[in-house]
This record gives sequence, C-alpha cells and structure tokens, in this order.
Amino acid sequence: MKKISLLISFLILLGSCQNSKKQIDTNEGSNSIIEHKVDSLLSIMTLREKIGQMNQYNGSWDVTGPPNDSTSINKLKHLEQGLVGSMLNVKGVKNVRAVQKIAVEKSRLGIPLIIGFDVIHGYKTISPIPLAEAASWDLQAIQKSAEVAAKEAAASGINWTFAPMVDISRDARWGRVMEGAGEDPFLGSKIAFARVKGFQGEDLSSVTTIAACAKHFAAYGYPEAGKDYNTVSVGLPTLHNTILPPFKATVDADVKTFMNAFNDLNGVPATGNSFLQRTILKNDWNFKGFVVSDWGSIMELQNHGYAKNNKHAGELAINAGSDMDMESYAYINHLEELVKEGKVDEALIDDAVRRILTIKYELGLFDNPYKYCSLEREQQIVGSKEINDAVLDMAKKSIVLLKNESINNQKLLPLKKEGQKIAVIGALANDNDSMLGNWRIGADNNTAITVLEGLNQYKNNKITYAKGADVALGKTFFYYDTKINNTDKSGFKEAIKIAKNADVIVMVLGEHGFQSGEGRSRTNLDIPGVQLDLLKEVYKVNKKIILVLTNGRPLTINWSDKHIPAIVEVWQLGTQAGNAIAQVLYGDYNPSGKLPMTFPRNVGQIPIYYSYKKTGRPTPLPDPNMVFWSKYTDVKSSPLYPFGYGLSYTSFSYKNLKLNTSNIPINGKIKVSVDVSNTGEFDGEEVVQLYIQDVIGSLTRPIKELKGFEKIYLKIGETKTVHFTINAELLQFYTANNKWEVESGDFNLWIGGNSNAPLMASFKVTE
Ligand code: BGC
Repeated sequence: MKKISLLISFLILLGSCQNSKKQIDTNEGSNSIIEHKVDSLLSIMTLREKIGQMNQYNGSWDVTGPPNDSTSINKLKHLEQGLVGSMLNVKGVKNVRAVQKIAVEKSRLGIPLIIGFDVIHGYKTISPIPLAEAASWDLQAIQKSAEVAAKEAAASGINWTFAPMVDISRDARWGRVMEGAGEDPFLGSKIAFARVKGFQGEDLSSVTTIAACAKHFAAYGYPEAGKDYNTVSVGLPTLHNTILPPFKATVDADVKTFMNAFNDLNGVPATGNSFLQRTILKNDWNFKGFVVSDWGSIMELQNHGYAKNNKHAGELAINAGSDMDMESYAYINHLEELVKEGKVDEALIDDAVRRILTIKYELGLFDNPYKYCSLEREQQIVGSKEINDAVLDMAKKSIVLLKNESINNQKLLPLKKEGQKIAVIGALANDNDSMLGNWRIGADNNTAITVLEGLNQYKNNKITYAKGADVALGKTFFYYDTKINNTDKSGFKEAIKIAKNADVIVMVLGEHGFQSGEGRSRTNLDIPGVQLDLLKEVYKVNKKIILVLTNGRPLTINWSDKHIPAIVEVWQLGTQAGNAIAQVLYGDYNPSGKLPMTFPRNVGQIPIYYSYKKTGRPTPLPDPNMVFWSKYTDVKSSPLYPFGYGLSYTSFSYKNLKLNTSNIPINGKIKVSVDVSNTGEFDGEEVVQLYIQDVIGSLTRPIKELKGFEKIYLKIGETKTVHFTINAELLQFYTANNKWEVESGDFNLWIGGNSNAPLMASFKVTE
C-alpha cells in the first residue's frame, strides 16, 4: 500500500517536473501539469478502481429521492476499497473529514472524494429561491449570492454544488420553476453565467470556492402538462434557441460539471442521450468537465422502457456520455463486466475518470484532501454576518411590486413609519420555516426571520397579529402533510376583528415553501386552501390591504389584482426574509424587481410567455368578435402581469430612443441609446430592457425577444442615457440551416420597463 502511494507521488512529481520546464506560469501550463498527473494516476489504476471513481453514494439515507435499496451494497467497504469517487449529502466538517479519511487513508490509491451537495439557494444561511433572485435582474448581486453560498458550504466541508439549475420553463404548474431563472433564455443565460462565476470564483482551488454543476441537461423544464419527470417533446429550434442557451452560457463560464435529467427528450431519456451529452455537450461545446447522472436516473432507464435491466441501463448511460452514477449502482455493479464483454470501450471509462480526476486536482484535493475541513473556519464562516448581509441584500432586490394604487388619494405603500395601527394577518406572516423555501437541506428548520418580526422592528406603529387561516398541504421535504385541515375557517373571526380597527392591513398569503419544488406540480395555481376566502372576508370590512404574496412560482391572482390596492411579490426569500420585506414595505429599500416569468390569468393559458409566435392569425384581432382567430373565447390572451414587469415607489419615463444607423451589414453593429428619467418622488432603480423582433425568418420567429438589460439607479428628477450595442451575437438564431446565423431583413426593437414596452424603432440588416 505504502509502496503504491510512493509510486503515485513519484509519477505525479515526474509529470509536474517535466511540465514545469515548459510553461509553468500560464494557465495552459497548469492545465497540462494536471493532465500529466491524471494520466500518471490513471496508468496505475485497475479497471475496478477506475469504475469506482465513477460511482457516487448518498451519505445519509433520507435526504433526497426515493431511498434506494442498498442492502446488497456495503458502502463503507466500497469506500475502503477505493470504489467510491464521490459522496453527496454528507455535511459538516466532522462528517466530511470522516468519509474523506476512509477514502484517503484506507483505500489502495488514496484518491480523495469530491463532496457534492445541493447548495441551491444558500447552504445553511438560506438565500432567496433562484426564481426570486432572477427577479432582481441584478447580476452582481446574484453572483455575490452564489459566492457567499459557496463560501459557507466550503467552510462546512463541501466542494461541489448541484447548481445552478438553468432549466428554462414556461409552465408554472411545474414545481421546479422555483429553482430556475424563469422563462427567458437571454436572462437565463446571463444569470447562469453569473452563478457559475459566483460558485467557482477565479480560483477553484481556493478554500472559499466550489465546483458548480449545470442541470438538468436537458429540457427537464418542458415536461408535458407541467407534471414533474414527464416526457418532453420539443423540436430542434426550441431546443437550440430556448432551452440550450443557458447551458452553453455555463460552459462559457467554465462550469466544471453537468447533471443530466430525469426526462426523456423526443423518445430518448436524457441520461441515455448521446446526442445531448456527447454530440452537443462534449463535442460541439468542447466541455471538459464531467457529467453526473441525476439521482437514480440511470436505473430509471428501465422504468422509461428504454433499458432491459440495470446492466443494460449502465451500458446505455456510459455510452451516451454520463460519467458518474448517482445512486443507481449500475456502474459499480456492471461496468466491469460490460467492458469485458466488449459492450463498453475501456477508452470511455478512461475518458470519464480523466474528467473526474481533473476536477479533483483543480479543486486541490490531491494537495490536501482535508482542505475544506477546518473546524475553525466552519465556526467563523457558517451563519456569519457577512453571509447574512449578502443574503439580506439579495432578498430586498428580489421583491417585485405588482400593484400600488391609491385609496382616497393615498397609496398604501410605502408604509408610514409612525402613528399607524397595522393588522398583520395570515399564517405565513409568522412562519419562520416557509420562507426557507424548498431546497434547504443544509439549514436548520424554523430559522427564517418572519414578516411579523421584521415589521415589529419599526417601533412607532402599533402592530396586531392574527393567523386567520392555515396554509394547506406541504410542510416536509418528502411528504405532503395531509393532517392540515385546509377548510378550517375558525381563525377568520379574530382576523376580521383586528382588520376592522386597523389603518392598514398587511396580509401574507401564498404557498408554503414545500408546496413548490421537486415533485410538486399543481394544476390549480390559486392561493391554496382557504386563504383567498380569508382575504375576501377581510376585504369586506377594510379595503386598505397590502397583499404580500409568498410563493415559489407564478400564481393565479385575478381576484386580488382586481380588488386589492397593493400587492407585493416576495417569493420565498430565505433566512432574512422578514427583514427584507419590512425594509421594502417601509420604503427603506425601494422595490426594483421585475418578473422573470409571466403571471397567467388562469391555468388554461399555460404555457404562457412573452416571446410567443405570431401564428397565421395573430393578435390584435381584425374584429373583436371574429371567431376563427388565435385567442380564447373565455379569457383574454394577454397575461395578468407580463414578463419583465415590476413597479417602484417612484416612476420612470423613457424618451429619445436613438439608433446611430438604421441599416447594417450581417456582421455590423448598431448603437442604441435611450434617456430614462426618474419622474417620481423617491430615488429608485429601474431595469431598462431591450427587446428585438426579427420580422421574417427562415423559421418563424417570436414576436420579440429580450436582448439586453441594464439596472440603473436614478435620484429624484435625474435622467441617464442608457446605451446598448446590437451585434450579430444578439441577432443570430438557430435557423432552418441548422446553425446559428444572422438572417438579413427587417428588425424592430423596443426599449422600456417591461416586455410590453411601447417605445419602438426599426432597422434593417442587409447581406
Ligand atoms: C434532483 C437533483 C438533485 C439530486 C441530488 C434529484 O432528485 O433532481 O436536482 O441535485 O436529486 O440531491
């Protein structure tokens, strides 16, 4: 054993010495040093040990997914034998050190484990759900949020997160929309890039950064009927123009790993899909990292009716480019045999292992396998002020003001800071768990600051509280809590009583954190349970209501939109939720968020998104009573709130849209500018959005697409000129020639504060 370790060190040293003579200072140099080290190590590994590197086990048995039957496998023994390359869901320095010690000190080659964890929106200090963060349109803040999440997780022993999820989705029935950046590929790509940079930083070997993982490759956000894990049928144009761009953006950001997906795509399950994993990802995009399967997704190839048994599933998965097996036991049980039978080429195993070992080297795990295992650092960083401050900042920026109309010539928001009697109503107003959202397996339950606690910090108002009604269903990660009686109205009386005497009412209603997320598809997107009834009853006695909506996806809120004067979308904002919400309600932070997903009028409109196709019978209708036209007969075609929409306590005006030319060649550029002024009574931020329409295409084109945005801060009365440059990168699309190119012709553009921006100009692209 010792002899072998010495041999590895010698081989590795030899590799690095040879290279150091060449270009040790350059990046290329360090890459090739790592390449040599990996090759040297690979050359002394047995086939079984190589397969071990491709094997990932769960470290606790009750955290994610349906528990697999592991009785036939002694995971501990496999760790000792060097047959495990990675563990997931082991958390805390003590535990990580313990498993790492087994791998490093007991196995023949002592190869360290890479430790994976779902740091989706924070680790222990929880940040807003990703959909909320996306609503900030603030790339710096989003990057910072990922950076602090990485820092906190790394301090707790973790060196690999299964994030960012970059699945574009246009279906709010799908519970996992909370985990992505919404409906748009342009915004989604920018956010995907920022999040990878945030997690991985400039130096992956630093003890404050961790490897990121783009998931779920691909099209998992397009399940039929919004039902999680369901089949997906999309053509190449949608795949390339809408679904893949954020994944490509993560490769551009040098993401180290990818995760494949549970769904099938046009008949081929993503995990066994070589077109996705080999042709597009590893070949066309030249991705050098490794692909991990989703939880049990290799063995699920059998359930799809695609693999005959788990051995066949393993064969399909490795041949299709899945490098690491998360909890399917297909590789560890069958790959060796498959190689011996000639069904799997050993070169594919070498390629997968090379990818995995490379990242372990880049993380610095071979230099010091315990580098993430400092108890002192864990104590200093986890839950520290620095992390909480960043999370609070992100939370404020994620809030979207949906409505703020005057009652008796007075707006309810921002709240006055003194002399007010405020009635706070709703179970979620005083719930310290729900705001943690769905993915918070690193956090302690019941650790969010509640809205009530946040509001109570403003001492010069008198606050009363009544729960009113409970939230239906939800409450645990694995199971719905069916014990909660969602028809119980016994709390209404008290709520109505405090509402009667209030100057203003803050009602906090919506979904519990566990009502959206994985496996939580819904066909009814109304505010759950009797909460809406409660709202209606309170409204009867006092109309001065501010509705604070907390949810993990767009909800259908027609009644509220029609009647309630002020509505604030706060999503699930994490640990600092109550503080962030109070600061926004009181105007200490002027809301600046914009919706990253369209809000439908009803579920029947779904999928609904701003960048739809015109059809042969487009809106507006030539005659409103026309029958044979593209529309609904029972509801408007337009959404309740469009993509990009969000108000501020101040107002903005857009003027002087200018283009430096109105005719450019295919590879040309246009400079666009617009003057944006703060015309209201508060300083504030605005997200200036640029949309472009390619009028005629070799394939039909969306009515408009987001192609630029900038978030600016304007003092009262201030005007700023915002500049955009339109170039081929923004004008190209995946055309009828099956490639990305710009097509000549007419283009329209719009600039404004949401996707219905009226300020318009046109230009031409000529051959
Ligand atoms: C999810 C992944 C997650 C994995 C590991 C799966 O159920 O789809 O997104 O990373 O579990 O927890």
